[in-house]
Amino acid sequence: MQVRDTNTNFLRERASTSTEHTLQELIDRMSNLTSIPSLAMIEQWFSSLLVSQRDFQRYRVFAERSYARNLLARSPFAELLLLCWRSGQRTPIHDHGGSVGVVLVCEGLLTETMYDRMPEGHVRPYNTFRRGPGSITGADVPDIHQLLNLQPDSRDMVTLHCYAPPLSELNTYSPHSSRVGRWREGYFLGGAGI
Ligand SMILES: [Fe+2]
Repeated sequence: MQVRDTNTNFLRERASTSTEHTLQELIDRMSNLTSIPSLAMIEQWFSSLLVSQRDFQRYRVFAERSYARNLLARSPFAELLLLCWRSGQRTPIHDHGGSVGVVLVCEGLLTETMYDRMPEGHVRPYNTFRRGPGSITGADVPDIHQLLNLQPDSRDMVTLHCYAPPLSELNTYSPHSSRVGRWREGYFLGGAGI
């Protein structure tokens, strides 16, 4: 997989292969699914993606109150979104409500913190990763994590996400309480004309 910006600066080098796919091809694939893809399948699709900032510019829309979830494709089996994060924006600590998820960092530096659920019900962080452009991370059904843009002021972050099946209602967690919340995400840019 290869990510590059509009100034043609290559952010990650990769040997050219015959299996590269464009973002539009991935959108088409997502729109025409006939079954729920596995985590491994989505990771494979993301790893064969050749994407430039020009490809996702039309979906690169931010919001000031929270990170923006811009919908690229959705079927009963999976959804593909471009998430745009201003500095400091973050998700709650959450699972995926029975879906698997894969994230590709397109721009900026993603911070991901992984959590374990304690017998008492609260969660405890056990690892934190910093992921640059071109990085891919997958979340299986039981995984609990938080995604953050912890870059300095004015440093934006853009990430490509696939969830299968599409996210519905997620569980949210706290390191300070055993209470489990419910969280339903919405779309900021629904369909983007597709
Ligand atoms: Fe997540």
